[in-house]
Amino acid sequence: MKLLSLSSPPPFSQALLHVPLFLFSSILLSSLLLVFLILLWRRHPKDKRLPPGSMGWPYIGETLKLYTENPNYFFSNRQKRYGEIFKTNILGCPCVMISSPEAAKTVLVSQAHLFKPTYPPSKENLIGPEAIFFHQGAYHSKLKKLVQTSFLPLAIKGSVSEIEQIVLKMLPTWKNNTINTLQEMKRYAFDVAMISAFGDKMDIEMDGIKKLYLCLEKGYNSMPLNFPLTPYRKAIKARKLLNETLRRIIERRRDSKNYGGGLLGVLLGGKELSDSQIADNIIGVIFAAHDTTASVLTWTLKYLSDNVNLLEAVTKEQEGIKMKMVGAGLTWDDTRRMPLTSRVIQETLRRASILSFTFREAVEDVEFEGYIIPKGWKVLPLFRTIHHCADFFPQPDKFDPSRFEVPPRPNTYMPFGNGTHSCPGSELAKLEILILLHHLTLSYRWQVTGENDGIQYGPFPVPKRGLPVKVTKRSKTVPT
Ligand code: HEM
Repeated sequence: MKLLSLSSPPPFSQALLHVPLFLFSSILLSSLLLVFLILLWRRHPKDKRLPPGSMGWPYIGETLKLYTENPNYFFSNRQKRYGEIFKTNILGCPCVMISSPEAAKTVLVSQAHLFKPTYPPSKENLIGPEAIFFHQGAYHSKLKKLVQTSFLPLAIKGSVSEIEQIVLKMLPTWKNNTINTLQEMKRYAFDVAMISAFGDKMDIEMDGIKKLYLCLEKGYNSMPLNFPLTPYRKAIKARKLLNETLRRIIERRRDSKNYGGGLLGVLLGGKELSDSQIADNIIGVIFAAHDTTASVLTWTLKYLSDNVNLLEAVTKEQEGIKMKMVGAGLTWDDTRRMPLTSRVIQETLRRASILSFTFREAVEDVEFEGYIIPKGWKVLPLFRTIHHCADFFPQPDKFDPSRFEVPPRPNTYMPFGNGTHSCPGSELAKLEILILLHHLTLSYRWQVTGENDGIQYGPFPVPKRGLPVKVTKRSKTVPT
């Protein structure tokens, strides 16, 4: 018998017999290696799963869908399909949208340092890069303290009679006329914003500031095309001129050693800010106060005209205030005794949710609820979706101020945002709405002309065509 030496190769036919075994063991080995590599890969936080969702078409992503579908459906369809956190791609930016109160709190409050505010450079340049919205850290905290000081109840108490004067001058111009509610509310919100920015002693430059500001705002809401005669190019020019005007005012106030009132007085008094930092923040605050408040006011009038019984109940509350008034005008304390009117404002803020979401950007790869959000991705807490969730607000499409007789669950109601960047102007916004509603409901009635439904975006969602209404004198003005 011929012994096979271990060193000698097996005859060819015998070697063939070993092939399946060899193949089997190498497949087994490589599979084990693959599984090991996958496990290693999955353990690395950088390579964890991205949230579910569709990134749509290359570059345009799902932008067209977002802008052509009703935004309510866009968000809720994806929420139904993918859950409370999903990815998408808007205007070439990968985004993660979140719609649970807890996740929104993480992004805006508890882990806010990992998510910085983010705006397109075209918009940032028009407002001014040193404005509060664009910053984090020490510079942001310093500014926030100064801005908050200017809008705390203690500071705005003194503005009640100035705001009331604006209302009393404006309302009679509406009588027996058809007005465009949004345009009128913009006029009102702008005048109030000017008082809060500059104080009640108006400078000679105010008319010029208004014209330049309106040009700036038009460009801000247009396509950022920097060509001759485009609204954007005109806005860049207006922004430069605004800067010059503001610098003249700042210089005058510094020279006279009287910093004056309003936010400008507070920012000058802080003594740590440069002229351009002050200018960017004055423009930023006027910007933040203007269209937002005007859009909410427009919705308030729409909801009250749709709910006549509610309008009468609000009027009754205001009659009660009027009967107990000691002096000629409203006081801060009067405005604290309007619970029903205040709930109407709360419900308007929820139902209209004019800021559907806000933008943040992950400053590093962030592990989030079992997913990874890569550095540079946008993160959007969806305020509107949370405000319209039936678990927190039953029958969410119903306008029902009584739901605010009990406070909403924590982190489910964020019309003014949450955390570090939350709105410092919320009390002022509510105050100006209360003062307007007091006089409007007591003395006037308004009827929507033409089609009553539909929404347009300009830039916030507002009733179609800016809600044209015919205003008439209320027949019963004396309280019974
Ligand atoms: C009803 C009207 C208003 C609404 C719904 C509103 C809503 C908001 C929201 C949601 C934010 C947070 C944005 C974010 O987290 O990215 C915000 C920020 C801000 N709002 Fe308002 N706002 C209103 C009126 C005002 C008014 C009247 C002022 C000023 C007088 C104002 C000044 C600001 C400023 C300066 C910020 C930026 C704060 C920061 O970055 O720290 N807002 N607003």
